[in-house]
Amino acid sequence: MSTYGIATICNNMEIVSGIWQMELYAPRIAAEAIPGQFINLYSDDNTLLLPRPMSLSAILSDRLQIIYRIVGKGTKQFSALHRGEQIKIMGPLGNGFMLPDVQKHSIVIGGGLGIPPLLELVRQLKGKTDAFLGFSQKPFLTENFEQLGASVYVATQDGCNGYRGNVMELLENTASDGDIIFACGPRPMLRSVSEWAGRHSIPSQLSMEERMACGLGACLGCVVKVQRKGADDWEYLKVCKDGPVFWGAEVIWDE
Ligand SMILES: Cc1cc2nc3c(=O)[nH]c(=O)nc-3n(C[C@H](O)[C@H](O)[C@H](O)COP(=O)(O)OP(=O)(O)OC[C@H]3O[C@@H](n4cnc5c(N)ncnc54)[C@H](O)[C@@H]3O)c2cc1C
Ligand code: FES
Repeated sequence: MSTYGIATICNNMEIVSGIWQMELYAPRIAAEAIPGQFINLYSDDNTLLLPRPMSLSAILSDRLQIIYRIVGKGTKQFSALHRGEQIKIMGPLGNGFMLPDVQKHSIVIGGGLGIPPLLELVRQLKGKTDAFLGFSQKPFLTENFEQLGASVYVATQDGCNGYRGNVMELLENTASDGDIIFACGPRPMLRSVSEWAGRHSIPSQLSMEERMACGLGACLGCVVKVQRKGADDWEYLKVCKDGPVFWGAEVIWDE
């Protein structure tokens, strides 16, 4: 069950230019959260009514970690918070990834700010993991994935590190053959992952980080078209309530 409350900032620091890592003391949420779930953070500024959803990059015994890019007013304000200050929080939200209970060879694919939630996923996965990570510019968190034992493959659009190009081209060129795929990133990347997975008959779980408004299932601002296995027709499902994780084979990409 999700909780609304106040979390205390344990630390908040810039890890690469424009990207920050915040650790929050939030024991009740940390006790319940699973990889792929997210929290809503609320700004103290009354002009920013909507919560800002953030994925969990680490779930510790009594703390949560998020990694965020400064893109607008809300994230700019979060970056100005110091250790000991407090912030309104709600979570854990969404369904999260379904972890296999037996050892599998997992392929984990992330793009940009879709990468942080995959870190906690890799921490909890059993068996061999190949992590394909795509960045527009300078990579971040790659060493954290290596420390968790993953084989890491990096793609950058500007070629500053690893393969020059997108992460799906890198995947095609690497011939990885896993049992299951987990992915989080921009919609075009997730669509390519789902198509690649379909061609290779590998089940895929995709975390869809659509734009959200209420973040609580009330406004229909985040729907995606999904046809559940065995269902006669497609339906609109809410990313914030029914997701953000969906089976790739069930998502309809025609919009
Ligand atoms: C489930 C979920 C998990 C997320 N996890 C993370 C995370 O771990 N780290 C992180 O940095 N961001 C994450 N985001 C995106 C994050 O919520 C937005 O970047 C943030 O709300 C922007 O707030 P702002 O006030 O700074 O910017 P705003 O002033 O609200 O917007 C500034 C710019 O960012 C764009 N923007 C706003 N929201 C999104 C979005 N969801 N996707 C793409 N562009 C957006 C706006 O269109 C605008 O151009 C997540 C979003 C969702 C829905
Ligand atoms: S954001 Fe309002 S229903 Fe999902």
